[in-house]
This record gives sequence, C-alpha cells and structure tokens, in this order.
Amino acid sequence: MRVLRLLIISCILFCVSMGLGCKTGENTKGDKEEMAKDVHSYANPEAIRVTNLDLDWDVLFDKKMFKGSVVLSFKRGKGKEKIPMILDSRDLTIEKAETSNDGGKTYTETKFELGDEDKILGSSLTIELPVDADKVRISYSSSPKASGLQWLKPEQTAGKKMPFMYSQGEAIHTRSFIPLQDSPNVRVTYTSKIRTPKGLLAVMSAEGNSQEKARDGEYEFKMTKAIPPYLIAVAVGDLEFRPLGKRAGVYSEPSVVEKAAKEFEDAEKMIAATEKIYGKYAWGRYDLLVLPPSFPLGGMENPMLTFATPTILAGDKSLVSLVAHELAHSWSGNLVTNATWRDFWLNEGFTTYLTYRITEAVYGKKQSEMEAALAKKGLLEELKETKEPDQILHVNLNGRDPDDGFTGIPYDKGSLFLRYLEEKFGREKFDEFVKSYFAKYSFQSITTETFVAYLKANLLDKNPGIVTEEEVDEWVNKPGLPKTAPKPKSDALTAVDVISKEFEEGKTKAKDIETKDWSTQEWLRFLRNFEKLDTEKMKELDEAFGFTKAGNSEVAFQWLKMSIQNKYAPADARLEEFLMTVGRRKFIKPLFDELAKTPEGKERAMKIYKKSRSGYHSMTFTSVDKVLGWKAE
Ligand code: BES
Ligand code: ZN
Repeated sequence: MRVLRLLIISCILFCVSMGLGCKTGENTKGDKEEMAKDVHSYANPEAIRVTNLDLDWDVLFDKKMFKGSVVLSFKRGKGKEKIPMILDSRDLTIEKAETSNDGGKTYTETKFELGDEDKILGSSLTIELPVDADKVRISYSSSPKASGLQWLKPEQTAGKKMPFMYSQGEAIHTRSFIPLQDSPNVRVTYTSKIRTPKGLLAVMSAEGNSQEKARDGEYEFKMTKAIPPYLIAVAVGDLEFRPLGKRAGVYSEPSVVEKAAKEFEDAEKMIAATEKIYGKYAWGRYDLLVLPPSFPLGGMENPMLTFATPTILAGDKSLVSLVAHELAHSWSGNLVTNATWRDFWLNEGFTTYLTYRITEAVYGKKQSEMEAALAKKGLLEELKETKEPDQILHVNLNGRDPDDGFTGIPYDKGSLFLRYLEEKFGREKFDEFVKSYFAKYSFQSITTETFVAYLKANLLDKNPGIVTEEEVDEWVNKPGLPKTAPKPKSDALTAVDVISKEFEEGKTKAKDIETKDWSTQEWLRFLRNFEKLDTEKMKELDEAFGFTKAGNSEVAFQWLKMSIQNKYAPADARLEEFLMTVGRRKFIKPLFDELAKTPEGKERAMKIYKKSRSGYHSMTFTSVDKVLGWKAE
C-alpha cells in the first residue's frame, strides 16, 4: 500500500515538475521553443497567447492615473475547449471586460475575476472567453501608486513649471499600468493613442515620437516588432528634441537638452561600432530620453528610446558607457530576451560584455580596461557579502521579487564568463559565435538551457578540447568565481593604487599628487581604495580636490559615502542636498545603508528620509524602506 502510494505521489510530482518545467509551446515567431514556466506571471500563454495590444489612454496628471482601455489580440493553443484568458495586474481598477468575435468591430461584455493580491506578483485577472472570441477589450484605470509609474510635480523637474510622468516596466511593473501577460516570454506588438494636457509631449518606446514642438495633446505610436512587455514605456513632459545624427537623437527638458546632446554626441559611432561586430541594428531609430533626477535607474533600454538618468551628464563624456550599455541591449535583451527572470544574466551579462567592446571600439582599450577592472574589483567585494545561492548566474528567484536579482552577479560575473570564452576561443571565433547567436534567436525569449545548448553545439563542439561542459556548468550553475576567471588589467589603475597607498601612509601630500590627466575612473579608483581616513586626511583631500563640490555624480557619491564612514561633517549639507534631489537607487540606497550603521546616522537618515521619500520612485523607496525599517502610513 505504502509503496503504491509513494509511487503515485512521485509520479504526480514528476508530471507536475515536467509540466511546469518544460512545456513546449509556440512563440510569436512560430518556432518550437522550450517554454520555461515563468514563476513571476499568472498568465497562461501555453493556452491563450497574447500577441498584440492596442492601448488607448488619457493621462490624468491631477489624478495620477491612466484611464482608458487595452484591446488584446491573441492566439490559441491546440485545445478546442473553453479556456479563460489569464492576465497579470497590479493595483488596477477594472471597469469592464468585453470580447469580440468579429475582429474588434463589435464587443459584448464578459465576466472577469480579479484574484487575491500577492505582494510580489499583484493579482491575476481571469477573463471568460467564448470559444469563438478573437479579441478582448478591457476598460480600466491605473492607481496613483502604480509601481510602474512615477508622477512628478513641477518642482521635481528642471523647468519647475510643468508636471512630468514616466513608466518603468522592468522587471514586472508593466502590469501596474496595463493588464497583460507580463512575462518576458510573451512578446507583443502594440499601438497606442494617448491624450495628455496640451503643451506636454508624449514619447514611447515605439515609432511615432515627434521631433517638432507640436503639442496638441494627442499622440499615436506603434511598435511593429514583437517585444517583451517590460519594454513598453511611455513618458510625458515638457520635452524637446535634438538630433545626434541620422538615426539618433535625444529628448529632454529644454534646459538640459544642449548638455545632453553634447554628452551623447558619439551615439552614432557607438551604433556603427556595435553593428560592425554583432550585425545590423534592428530597430530603426535610436533615441535617448533624459529624465528628471528622480529616475531610479542609470538607464533603461526601452526599444528605440533609451531612458537615462541626468546624473550621467558629467560634461566630459566620462560616464557615457551607460549609453553603450543601453544601446547594447538593442541586441542582448531586446532582440534576444531572457525567457524568465532567472535567465536575467543572459540580458545583463551579455550587455555588460558588449559595453566593454563598444567602449573599446569608440574610446580605446585603456578606457574599457579601466572600466572592466573597476567592475571586477566591485564584484569581488560584492561576492563576499552575497549568500552562495545568490552568487549563481542561473539564480533561483522562486517566491522572490525579480528585482532582487538586480545585483552585480548577472552583470559582472555574466560578462566575465563571456570574456573567458573570448579569451579561450579567440576574439574572431567568439565574435562570430555571438553574432550568430543574436541572429538565430532574434525576437525570441530564451532560457539559460537554450543558450548553453547553443554554446555547446556551436562553439565547444566545433572547437574541441578548449572549454569543457563542466567548466561551463561551473560558470552558470555554481557560486563564486572560477579560478580561471579573466583578470582585466589596467596600468593606469595600478598606478593609482600606488599613489593611494603613499597618501594613506603619509608619504605623499594630496596637493603633490599629479592628477592633471586623471579620468573619472582613476578618481573613482583612488577614492575606493580608502577604507578609513581620519578627519585630517579627509580635509586634506577636500582642500586639494574639492570633492564635496564634485559635479561628477559618481565621484560625489563615492565621496559622500566616505564622508559618512569617516564622519566628515563638512560634507553633511552636500549629502542632504544629494539625497533630496537625486533618486537613483544605485546612489541613494548605499548612502542610507551607510547612515543606518550608527545610531546618530540612523537618526539623521530618518530626518532626511521623511522629507525626501515622497520624491523617490517606488523602486528606490521600496529598497530604502527596508534599510530604515520604514513603515509607510
Ligand atoms: N535593464 C537594466 C535596468 C533594470 C534592471 C531595471 C533590472 C529593472 C530591473 C538596465 O539596462 C541597466 O542595467 N541599468 C544600469 C546601468 C548599467 C550601465 C549597468 C543601472 O540602471 O544602473
Ligand atoms: Zn542592462
């Protein structure tokens, strides 16, 4: 009896795990592709697969909401039985759901049900679907607290006169402004009609962005290439355009646009350099949108329209590898996409690797190696503080927020893995391999297993005896860094290491250090070399180099972090100003982390946070809330 029961249980378990782990379905390209279960979506694309969205929105600044509708077109799986459409949603108010059986000419109301809210996933939205239905229309509005939208008051913009709003979909926030199958494995095309207050310009990750000032409040867009939902993006504000070349340009608030155009003047060169190695740019135009300083990210690779923080406008192009990074996603991420969030390293590891290659091609090897060496050092430090399971590229994110996977591991360990392969097989062979990988999987969403199989068939087996499958497995599925990991080498940074040591030991005075030709990366290395400095030495540095007034955001951040660690009071006011104006999580969270380490610091942090929190994007305040144990009222 017992044996039989065990047998039945294990059989069920096996079937369930097979069913969940590797269903075969059809993707939008029609190829059979392994469909890994996306644990961060309620959707049922294996039965009903959404393929296109027609969006229609009123952008209501006073209510902080989108109000309108979405029409979903879809394909059905093989079965003939009546199956509902299951969508993802978060904090949406659903007014009604309708279905059509004549291609959208007429609609009839249908039943829908919103599931219980899960803190990470939001709520499922199940829509009853007659067997002959071919479209679904949902009328809805978003919530003022939609995690994927930020609504800025005029005071939070550069111009201070007009409001601003923008979306941020990755990883699973698109569901907070569109009910849809919010999985990177469900690619969609879209059209949109947007109405805004007059005088503001709407832009999207699509065709239709206006280069003129016509701001009649009515805008239309279309994205004709199938993209994962996290890449649907919109922004509305007082925007102006400047061309950067024949297919590139930049949008930003008028007072920032000249500076941005100067900073990004190499965009065309970057596109050309990437195309030369990895094949044609697939998206037509490449524009950038510079957001107000509360933007929580450095950049976001929304197709045709990269979103970027103004904190990279350093005036000397020293932080523009971020543009190279977001541009690189036009191949790694937007063409070939992670099928689930545990495959995130396929997006970011490839992109980080490509960034160095673009930087090398446009700015030279010295620059790219400095950046690679800085990142490697950062990764080694991060690994020390990361639990073993989270050191794995193919990380398990079950039951967790996919935003938790946004660490240095997918980026820097991922990129080192690819650099390792380049070193082993030689640049020529490796470039050819990566180019063929992008071509083979373009406009598809793939899993780590698919990549590893492609790697084995096309690089390992074709060039036997160079890299073993076990070595690949160690990179992909084991914690830590393999002993054979590449060692980017920068003589410039090694020289800085010597100088920092001499300064620390009192052998060299700050004012005598020869820094005339130092790049931002050398300055960063210099500052990062110090663990503890006494007030005298902090003062000496500040007097010699004016760090408290630094205009470069990366340098300022590094200095402010040190100032908290070393209790350097002259930087206090600057710290508060920085925390009140910038919302980029990469800077804000570590500064609050640092403050929270001492009781006095924590008290100060709470005082500042009370004032600054409402200006932050949800990605930023969600992280800082955890640091400070903040309970939102
Ligand atoms: N796609 C990411 C941003 C992202 C990751 C958003 C995960 C939400 C979840 C983007 O390409 C990125 O990596 N941005 C970096 C900058 C880059 C130069 C490392 C950032 O914002 O810090
Ligand atoms: Zn990225």
